[in-house]
Amino acid sequence: METQPEWWRTGVVYQVYVRSFADGNGDGQGDINGLRSRLDHLDDLGVDAIWLNPWYESPLTDGGYDVADYRAIEPRYGTLADAEALIAECHERGIRVIADLVPNHTSIEHAWFQEAMAAEPGDSSRDRYIFRPGRGDGSEPPNNWIAMFGGPAWTRLNDGEWYLHLFDPSQPDLNWDNEEVRSEFDDVIRFWMDRGIDGLRIDVAHGMVKHPDLPDTEPLPLPWSLQGGDEPIDHPFWGRAGIHDINRRWRAILDSYDDRMMVAEAWVHPTQLPLFLRPDEYHQSFNFDLIETPWDATAFRSVISEAATAAAEIGASSTWVLSNHDVVRHATRYGLPGNTDTRRWILDGPHDLLDHEAGQRRARAAALITLSLPGSTYIYQGEELGLPEVWDLPLDVLDDPTWEKSDHTVKGRDGCRVPIPWTATGPSLGFGDTNAWLPQPDRFAALSVQEQRIDPDSTLSLYRRAIAARNHLLADDPPLTMLEFGPGVLAYERGDVTVVSNMSARPVPIPAGTVALSSATETLGDELPPDTSVWLT
Ligand code: GLC
Repeated sequence: METQPEWWRTGVVYQVYVRSFADGNGDGQGDINGLRSRLDHLDDLGVDAIWLNPWYESPLTDGGYDVADYRAIEPRYGTLADAEALIAECHERGIRVIADLVPNHTSIEHAWFQEAMAAEPGDSSRDRYIFRPGRGDGSEPPNNWIAMFGGPAWTRLNDGEWYLHLFDPSQPDLNWDNEEVRSEFDDVIRFWMDRGIDGLRIDVAHGMVKHPDLPDTEPLPLPWSLQGGDEPIDHPFWGRAGIHDINRRWRAILDSYDDRMMVAEAWVHPTQLPLFLRPDEYHQSFNFDLIETPWDATAFRSVISEAATAAAEIGASSTWVLSNHDVVRHATRYGLPGNTDTRRWILDGPHDLLDHEAGQRRARAAALITLSLPGSTYIYQGEELGLPEVWDLPLDVLDDPTWEKSDHTVKGRDGCRVPIPWTATGPSLGFGDTNAWLPQPDRFAALSVQEQRIDPDSTLSLYRRAIAARNHLLADDPPLTMLEFGPGVLAYERGDVTVVSNMSARPVPIPAGTVALSSATETLGDELPPDTSVWLT
């Protein structure tokens, strides 16, 4: 593939959740060959790159974020040869490939953890992880840390020692103070760079380094790991200063290749994020602010202005994310009142609160926002079809460890991971020739790729037009200037393009200009209906 310095700065990156994209061998799970057979879809959309959720050998207890072997492909997904073929085929089409690296923890099935478990306390193999004796008579965990999926962050082995896992007990945390751990990841990164991977998405990039004394801590005010509040806090396991040395070490490796990049999944206080983006650290970091932002013009405006200003100040490029494999899909979030705790709503409802039509309309309008902003835009598979969250999956199919670990009080993330409907009929709507690992609801049939491809008003057609228009009209990444069009209206200018998004409940006049793109399915007159965006030239 031709080198193109800094391709990531303005790229449209499509996130592929491999297990749910396309099933090539009929086992109900997506795989690499299924993905290879569907590359036309990505080509038609016009994306610059794909980011693949972890594809490494794994028991898939946490969807592959529990890696047993960082140099092998999970057999359910294919082989290393399949992965190499995929990389080559993507490159032939001008699509770059970003892999997901999971450095904070391995799977308990990783050879290192197996070795550590078989060894005696004090053995050097245990020093690759975080083993400690318990408190009191040894039967109390070493400290009070709570795991992200619920329950204590420590599990005790039969010989009495405890090991740390910030996520599931099947995901033991590595000890990043151990040089062997650091150099192993150097090698793993080179392994994938040598196979032509163009970039890395680094999982839990704010984790890894722990306070040496492992002190007790207060639970964080927000779920997951986001550091809420006005001031960054000195937290014993999130966002510690030592992380930056690791970032620099990886960046130096990437810089020894041509045009590779790395993007951080760093849930840190907004004031800490720029530190990850210093010239010798990450190229990019996900900005998750829009995921937390309700459908409200003032809120969107402030998130966009702040991110664009921050990026410009440090010479980084912004990133825009509406959905990913960890959150309730935005076509559903936007159909709920703005103050809804959507993670709770998927379990507790009330489910008749959902206005499906409004969610669809707003999701389309939001796409015209994120695809017109400076920087790069990440699309989560299925959002180009307007897929909603499947909040009503039968409880007995739920697979996310959150559901069990929270004692069935938090439903988890399966509802956004339901396989793609490729066709309107068939056992798994074209995903494969058998039932899919998570069942698709009947309402997915009408949203299939097959149906939407031929419908010029479909969400898929809108995404395709928007990406093409972005490449044409916004190719030189003009700066953003906010405009004032009254309450409930988000408006900004980028070079020759003016974007107006009506987030209010009443129509507003369309300013002068030619409508190059509209999120409405009906033809527009002089007014912009509620929940609609346009690009004017
Ligand atoms: C990240 C991933 C999430 C995973 C967790 C633990 O947040 O996005 O899916 O469960 O890390 O690896």
